[in-house]
Formats: sequence, structure tokens, C-alpha cells
Amino acid sequence: MNSIIQNIKNRRSIRKYKDKKITKDLIKEIVETAQYAPSSHNRQPWNFTIITNKAVIDDLSKDIKSWYKSIVKLSAPLSFINEVKKSVREMSARAKSEKDLFFYHAPVVIIIHAPNKKFFLQDCSCAAQNIMLAARSLNIGSCWIGFADIVLNRSSKMKKKLGIPSSHKIMATVALGYPEKFPNKALPRKESNVEWVE
Ligand SMILES: Cc1cc2nc3c(=O)[nH]c(=O)nc-3n(C[C@H](O)[C@H](O)[C@H](O)COP(=O)(O)O)c2cc1C
Repeated sequence: MNSIIQNIKNRRSIRKYKDKKITKDLIKEIVETAQYAPSSHNRQPWNFTIITNKAVIDDLSKDIKSWYKSIVKLSAPLSFINEVKKSVREMSARAKSEKDLFFYHAPVVIIIHAPNKKFFLQDCSCAAQNIMLAARSLNIGSCWIGFADIVLNRSSKMKKKLGIPSSHKIMATVALGYPEKFPNKALPRKESNVEWVE
């Protein structure tokens, strides 16, 4: 197996980070790989908001927590629907925890956002994957935080605080940091979803 394939297979979502900063040069190197992602018509619709200020990350996490708290309250009457019940339980656990179960105390959060154009979701997802893989190759852990994407897309107040244009869609929020440890085993992968047409 070559080193790129090995790196892809070794990437894991990391939810426990060391209290250690990532240098600006390394962050730049990682983000540059995102700028080399493929994009439809080479439009490169992505924009990167890179947050390295701990107070800003903590504040964002608090805002996200209170957003989920209010959603949990609002959706409680619909908890008889199994799907709603499941998400309410998950949102509630994260919102009520003393810990930061959104960014996991990661020292860096990168928000990828773009104006609403054709294929921008695919373009930005390629960019996000490059960030996560480049990070792994530098022994830096990452986790895509979809819980944050959901809230940021619904809160013009939070976008404004971060200087993200209100017309932009949040496509991916990625936490980065040195992991406590890289799990040595991947979560099980499905094998039955490959069909050959030969
Ligand atoms: C679009 C997307 C959203 C995700 N959102 C979250 C999230 O909010 N919190 C989290 O801890 N992990 C999140 N993840 C990570 C997944 O849980 C993880 O990729 C999956 O369980 C497989 O594990 P692995 O990344 O270690 O291979 C997200 C991943 C993707 C692609």
C-alpha cells in the first residue's frame, strides 16, 4: 500500500485533543491543500474562516449549545416520532454537557463557506476532505462538525460575529488539533455497497 492510500485509511475523526497549538505555517500548508481540491469549472467557490482564538471558539461553542437547547425544547412535543426522539436525545446530551461536545476543545476550527452556486457543496466537500487528509499526514487530527454547520447556517448573528457574509452557505466546519492519540482501528466499513458492471 502506498503512503497516500495508507494516509487515507489512517484518518480518523478525533474527539480528544492535546492542549497544543498548531503553528500558523502548518495551518497555512493544510489550507493550501484545500485550495488544490477539484471544483466544478475550476470555480473554487470556497472561502475559509480560520479560527485559532480560543475565546472565539469557546464563545461559538456556547452559542451553538444554547441554540440546541432551544431546539430541544421546541421539538420535545414531537418526541413521539422515533427519528425526532433520537435526534432530540443526541442534541440534548451535547447541549447539556459541561464539556465542549461540539469542538472537543480543538485549538483550530476552519469554517468553509461559499455563495450558493451549482456544485458548491461537492466543491467544498472536496476541500474539506483535503484538509482532513493533509492534517493526518502531519499527525494532526480532525473532525468534521456537522452539528456546527447546521446551526451556523441558521444564525445570521453567529455568521456576523465571524465576519462570514450572510449570503454564504456554511458547507463544512472542521476542527483540527493534535490528538490525545490516533485510534489504531477504523470503525467498521460497509463492504456490501460495491457493484461491478463488467
Ligand atoms: C458531514 C459530516 C458531519 C459530521 N458531523 C460530526 C459532528 O457534528 N460531530 C462529530 O463528532 N463527528 C461528526 N462527523 C464525523 C463522523 O461521525 C465520522 O466521520 C464517522 O463516524 C466515521 O468515523 P471516522 O471519520 O473516524 O472514519 C461528521 C462527518 C461528516 C462527513
